[in-house]
This record gives sequence, structure tokens and C-alpha cells, in this order.
Amino acid sequence: MLDGMDPRPVGMFDSGVGGLSVFREFRRLAPRERTVYFADTAFFPYGPRDPGEVRKRAFAIADRLVDAGAKLIVVACNTASAAAVADLRQLFEVPFVGMVPAVKPAARASRSGRVAILATPGTFDGELYSSVVDEFGKDAAIDRVVGHDLAELVERGEVDTPAAREAVRAALAGPVASGADIVVLGCTHYEFLAPAITAEFPGVSVLGTGEPVAKRACARLAELDLEAPLDAEGALDLIVSGNRDAFLRTLPKLGFAPREAAEAQS
Ligand code: DGL
Repeated sequence: MLDGMDPRPVGMFDSGVGGLSVFREFRRLAPRERTVYFADTAFFPYGPRDPGEVRKRAFAIADRLVDAGAKLIVVACNTASAAAVADLRQLFEVPFVGMVPAVKPAARASRSGRVAILATPGTFDGELYSSVVDEFGKDAAIDRVVGHDLAELVERGEVDTPAAREAVRAALAGPVASGADIVVLGCTHYEFLAPAITAEFPGVSVLGTGEPVAKRACARLAELDLEAPLDAEGALDLIVSGNRDAFLRTLPKLGFAPREAAEAQS
């Protein structure tokens, strides 16, 4: 494309609102890009589902995003990345950016030598997770913590409530008492719970992947000459497979201005 200027949108998807934690970083770093975000709320949650089913959803959504003109697709979901990103790369020509929990930086940064990884069952069962743990898990003891009902709380916009505080306390009290000094967020929904985790466990560092994945998406756009034109105006287009109104109602509770939700609606 002439001058590497590509007006097509970036595609992004998740089972629900979680991937917006990647989107908010991406928008900050690449404000000229238009994003088409697919929230697969009709199939939320992905975490406990069979990987084959998540893979099928990922293929269908990638098809839809390619139809919408996506020049690059960010799999803004750890569970879908674990189940499908390798196959997506085989099947589609469009480039993909996927996610994997930040085990490597956590293992290196931990002073106590113990880190807690908070993720869904689907992410823990995937090969992607085993491969990073095989490679970097030797540097620290790792506590795998399955986040029961945490994604559900976030999907309802309950990130700053007594229920959210209680849920993160219940999930992490054990590993923190055993000495974990870093909590790795291995699910994009959990990024919205970072303030609740910090409030409950002030001595613990919280490590997410929203920003590194957004940076990786920007780097891929630059490498492949896919960046938006200099005069482009960024926008967010939403596709919601389930209840759109419920989805839009959650956005302001996650720190998105009501204006952004209204714009995203049109
Ligand atoms: N946000 C997703 C992830 O990163 C999935 C949450 C869910 O649907 O269970 O794993």
C-alpha cells in the first residue's frame, strides 16, 4: 500500500468486555487506528468450555472480522489464544497477535521467587501456557490460581464493589500467604480487577498483558506497513453476539466514558 498507509480497521475479539483492556492500551498507543471489536457474549464465558468449541468460535469470529476488512487481528483473550491462535495463523492470511500470561517477566522480577498466575481453566490447559512455564517457570515457584467467577463479575461491570474485593481476596489469599509477591493476570477480564487486587494486597505487584500486547500490535502494523493514514481518526465499532444493551451498560463501569459507549453504538 502506498506510503504504508492503510485505512482498514484492526480486528479484536474476546468472549466479552475483557479484551477492552487491550483495546484501551491500543487506542492510547495508536489513536488513529479504527478498531472493530467483536464481543462474543452469546458464548461467554470461554474459560470452562472445551477448547474445540472455543476454536470454532475463534474461526467464525476471524471470518467475520476479515469480512469487516480487518488488516490485523488481535486475539484479546488468553483462553482463545491458547485454544486457537496457532490454527488461526495457519488458516487465515491476515496477521494475528495473540496473548500468553506474563510468566517470563514475573519469574524474573519476583524477589520472593514465588508468583501466582490467575487464569481460566482453558488457558492453564493450553500448550501455550505449558511452553512458557517450561521455559521460564524454572526461575520461580508458580501457583496456578483458577479465577472462579471473576470474569463473570467483570462482565457485569463489578470491578469496584465489595463482591469484587471479596472474590479477589478468596482467590489470592492462599498464594500471597505462601509468599507470592507477583500476581500475573492471565485473563484479559482480570485486568479490570487490578485496582481491587492492589487494594487487597498492597505489597504485591500485579502484572498484566494489555500494554505489551497493544505494543506488539503496533509493532506488527509498522513492520507490515499497515499503519493508518496520518489524517485518520480512530474509532471503535462494536459487534456483540449476545445482548448489546447489557454490554453497552457495562462500559462506563469499566472506565469508558458514556460518550464512548454511545459512539460505539452507532
Ligand atoms: N477474557 C478471556 C481470557 O482472557 C476469557 C474469559 C472467559 O470468557 O472465561 O481468558
